[in-house]
Amino acid sequence: MVLITGGAGFIGSNFVLDWLANSDEPVVNLDALTYAGNLENLASLQGDVRHIFVKGSIGDFDLVAKLLADHQPRAVINFAAESHVDRSIHGPGEFIQTNIVGTFNLLEAVRAYWCGLQDDARAVFRFLHVSTDEVYGSLGTDDPPFAETNRYEPNSPYSASKAASDHLVRAYHHTYGLPVLTTNCSNNYGPFHFPEKLIPLVMLNALAGKPLPIYGDGQQVRDWLYVKDHCSAIRRVLEAGRVGETYNVGGWNEKPNLDVVHTLCNILDELRPRADGKPYAAQITYVKDRPGHDRRYAIDATKIERELGWRPSETFDTGIRKTVQWYLDNQPWVQNVTSGAYKQWVGKQYGGD
Ligand code: NAD
Ligand code: DAU
Repeated sequence: MVLITGGAGFIGSNFVLDWLANSDEPVVNLDALTYAGNLENLASLQGDVRHIFVKGSIGDFDLVAKLLADHQPRAVINFAAESHVDRSIHGPGEFIQTNIVGTFNLLEAVRAYWCGLQDDARAVFRFLHVSTDEVYGSLGTDDPPFAETNRYEPNSPYSASKAASDHLVRAYHHTYGLPVLTTNCSNNYGPFHFPEKLIPLVMLNALAGKPLPIYGDGQQVRDWLYVKDHCSAIRRVLEAGRVGETYNVGGWNEKPNLDVVHTLCNILDELRPRADGKPYAAQITYVKDRPGHDRRYAIDATKIERELGWRPSETFDTGIRKTVQWYLDNQPWVQNVTSGAYKQWVGKQYGGD
């Protein structure tokens, strides 16, 4: 079996669902259920004995040690993190605790477990750390996309904390021989995306008749990847990645934010037109820029294709259409995640209610 951390979040829950759709190998899912963790994402697994959910933190050494001893996983895949840049600007403390101290405690528990394994189990064991392209900093318009050899230049508390966790993972391989793999992925989108992030926030605000907030001039560029393609890349790296290596994962889909928002508006105009017949783009509103806003991210995903034969299967056009349809079809999920604490975040970040 495999131990997954953060498997009730956006990417983690997609990964658990896809994993169990592709194999019968059981999953232990350790998640602290912060505001971003949602067991509703995993509702379709209710009663499935292949999924064992445990509420708890990667920072809890004793709990992780016990889970490892009890379940003897062949791999640990670490998704657990604080993941939202804007929240890291308002309050970096949680990012330091979870992404740095939490990853450290997790690595310590995994190291102790791995050292105690028999030779054959030790040889096949893997620790896969899920990270981000944001550790490389910001690109200029004409710079080549991020390769694995780019230097780390994180610019936000979030990306700095992820960079620190990547360095710890690297050091545990170099110093202790822990068989690690690291993936650095670009922006994901798809089902179960928490609506603090651009794509789901814009969709939900559009449908609710609220402003669609564009930070600064809206010309910041992100490289978008459908979440299920990220999941397949992680499965492939786990299966065949070279120990100690990092793999950049991206969609070859660079888009300025304003283009992404216009695409969302156009699809909604077609699938769910506004009652007054006006276009959703009329709701676009320019707001104050994010402090230290990275201008451009882009991933060179050549290495993972060359070594492991992975390429994304969705284009932005196919993936974004599926995503809009998913949100239209899953309004009860939307209503549940946007009640309660979510409202407080929106008030703090954007003002009003
Ligand atoms: P998310 O915020 O949606 O989910 C994070 C999950 O981790 C939540 O379920 C939360 O409850 C859990 N968690 C938080 N602290 C924990 C702790 N101490 N112990 C156990 N669980 C804890 O994040 P996401 O977007 O699904 O991202 C998952 C991972 O992928 C993160 O490491 C993130 O840095 C990385 N990543 C995300 C993207 C993206 O576009 N979303 C892109 C590249 C990499
Ligand atoms: O690149 C990978 C990263 O992508 C992940 O590591 C992060 O966990 C994930 O949150 C994401 O970070 P971004 O900051 O790029 O994503 P976000 O959806 O917050 O913002 C995308 C772009 O849209 C960014 O340039 C900021 C802008 N934006 C965002 C919001 C929430 C707006 O213009 N308005 C908004 O209201």
